[in-house]
Amino acid sequence: MCGIFGIITNQNNLSLGKVVLEGIKRLEYRGYDSCGIVSLSNSKLFVKKDSGKIDEIQKKINLAEIPNNSKLALAHTRWATHGAPTKINSHPHLDCSNKIAIVHNGIIENFIELRKDLINQGHIFKSDTDTEVIPHLIEQKMKEGLNFKDSIVEALKLCNGAYGLAVCHADYPDLIIVVRKESPLVIGIEEGKTTYLASDIPAFLPLTRKCYIMEDDELAVLKAGEVDFYDLKNDKKINKELQVIEWTIDAAEKGGYEHFMLKEIYEEPTAMQRTLKISKDLLQVFANILWSAENIYITAAGTSFYASLAGKFIVSRFLGKYIQAIECSEFQTQLSNSLKNNSVIIALSQSGETIDTVEAIRWAKSKKNVKILTITNVVGSTLTRYSDNVIVTQAGPEIGVAATKTYCTQVLTLALIALEIAKLRKVELDSDIEKYEMALKSTPQIIEKFLNENIDEIKNIVNTLEKSVQFFFLARGISIATAKEGGLKLKEVACRFIEGYSAAHAKHGPISLVREGFPIIFIAPPDETYQRLIGNVMEFKARGGKIISLVVEDDKTISELSDLTIRIPQPGDKYHNIFSPITFTPALQLLAYYASLLHGLDPDKPLNLSKTVTVH
Ligand code: F6R
Repeated sequence: MCGIFGIITNQNNLSLGKVVLEGIKRLEYRGYDSCGIVSLSNSKLFVKKDSGKIDEIQKKINLAEIPNNSKLALAHTRWATHGAPTKINSHPHLDCSNKIAIVHNGIIENFIELRKDLINQGHIFKSDTDTEVIPHLIEQKMKEGLNFKDSIVEALKLCNGAYGLAVCHADYPDLIIVVRKESPLVIGIEEGKTTYLASDIPAFLPLTRKCYIMEDDELAVLKAGEVDFYDLKNDKKINKELQVIEWTIDAAEKGGYEHFMLKEIYEEPTAMQRTLKISKDLLQVFANILWSAENIYITAAGTSFYASLAGKFIVSRFLGKYIQAIECSEFQTQLSNSLKNNSVIIALSQSGETIDTVEAIRWAKSKKNVKILTITNVVGSTLTRYSDNVIVTQAGPEIGVAATKTYCTQVLTLALIALEIAKLRKVELDSDIEKYEMALKSTPQIIEKFLNENIDEIKNIVNTLEKSVQFFFLARGISIATAKEGGLKLKEVACRFIEGYSAAHAKHGPISLVREGFPIIFIAPPDETYQRLIGNVMEFKARGGKIISLVVEDDKTISELSDLTIRIPQPGDKYHNIFSPITFTPALQLLAYYASLLHGLDPDKPLNLSKTVTVH
C-alpha cells in the first residue's frame, strides 16, 4: 500500500536519480497508480510526479533527472486511497511555501477536520489527499516558532491514523526526518557515506545489507551515513540494533524470468525445502499450545485466508478439534460477544503488515487473555510484535503482487504443525505418521516435476479457454480451499470473473448460470470426496458445462468425464491426498499466469491491487 524510498548521501560519484528510480521501482509491487520524486538543490525543492506506472512516467517526464548537486531525494509510488490516481494527488506533497515535502504511506483518518482548520488559517491545498495536511501542519508549527523536528512531532500529535513518512525541508539540505506508526519503514546505512529509507528492505538491498527496522512511534533523523532514533512519545534518543540481511538481492529480482509471478512459482520447490527445515522445537511449541487449547481460531486475508482454510483442515484432522476460520476484517464483529479467555488465535500473513489481521489480533489481546500464534514470511513485521510465538515461513521475498510461493509454504507450515500434533496425541499409528511425513516431504519434488513437465498442457488449456470470461472453480472437502485460491489467482491476474465454491453447494444456486460451454474447473484429488464429486461433475456436464479437471496422474473416472485434464504427479493415497492443496495449487497459479499473458495483462501488477494492504 504505497512504497516510499529516500536517500541522503555525501558521495559525489553517486548517480542519485538512477539510485532513486531503481529503489522506488523495487517497491512498485506496493502500488502503481502514480509516482513522484523530490530532490533538493540550492535551498530549493525540485518535484517531478505524474500518474501511471513508473516506467511510463519515466518515459514521459524523465523522473530520474534531478539536479546534479542534489544530495537528498525522496520518492513515492502510490496506491490511491484518498483522491483519484492523478498527477495532483500523487506524492510528494508540499506546504504553501514549497519548502517542506513529504512522502507518506498510510492514512490520516481525521484529515477532513485538520484540512478545514488549516484552510481557515490561510493554507492553500492543491490535492484531495489526506497526506497533504501533514506538510501544512508542519509549516504551521514552524511558523509558531518550533524547529523542524519538533514541528513534525507536534504536527503528528494532531493526526489520527497510520503513517510511514519521510519529510525534507529546503533549508535543511543535510537531513531527512522519518516517522513510523503502523506502516512499515526500514533504514539502510553505509556508515559515513549514505543513508536510505524504504518501506521494504529489497529497495536498498543492492546498495547495503545493513539496516535498522523501525518500530511504531519512532522517529529517525537521517544524515549522510548516520542516523539517530527517538521515541516519538517522550523525545528520548533510543539505541537500535543494526541488522545484517542474510539474503541477497537476487532473491528479490527477476533473475531471467519474464515476471516475478513466474519466477516465484518456480521457486516453490526450494522455498518449500527451506520451510521443511523449520525447527522441530518451534513446531512442537505450536503443537503443544494447540493441543491444550479449548477454543482455536485462525484469521487472515485473501490468499493467506485460503491457506488458513486448507491448513486448518489438516490441523483439525490430527488435532481432533474444530478450528474456526474467520476473515480478519470480520474477526472483531463476529466474536464481539463470544471471544473467550485462553483462546488461541493463529494469524497467517505473508507480509505481517495487513492492517485488518494486525487489528484483529490487537483487538483480541485487548479484550481477553488470548495466545497469538503467528505464521508470517517477514521477520520483524508488525504482526510479530503482537504475537506470543512466531514461525517464519522461509519463502524468501515475494515481489509479485499475487501471492504464490507463500501460499504453498503457509499450508506446508500448518501441515508440519499438524504432524507434530499427531505425534503428541498418538492417535495415529507411528507407521502412518511416518508415511504422512514422507508424503509431506515429497511435495517439493512433486511440484518440481509438474513445473518441468506440464507447461505446454497448461498453455494449451489457457488457449482453449481464451474466449471464456466467467468460470466456476468447484471442489469438495479440503479442495474447496484450492478452488477458492485457484479462482482468486485467475480473477486477480487474468481479470476473469470467478466463483470458487463447494461443488455440492453449487447446485443450490450457482448452477443456474451454466450454459453450453461454461467452463468449470473441478479440483479432484482421489480423497474421500472423490465419489461424490463424480456426481457433481455429471450434474454440470448434463447442463452443457465444459469440464476441466485437476486430477492425479493415474486418474480414470473424472478425467474420462472431462473435456480437458491437468494431471498432478502424485500417488493417490490417503497420505498424499490430505496435502493436495500444496501440490494442486501451483497448476492453477500457472493457469492464471498464462491466462494473464494471453489477455495482454501484467501478472505482476494486477489492476487496482497492492501487495501489502495497510488500510481497512
Ligand atoms: C492475493 C494476495 C492477497 C493477500 C492478502 C493478505 O494473491 O496476495 O489476497 O493474500 O492481501 O496479505 P498478507 O498475507 O500479506 O496478510
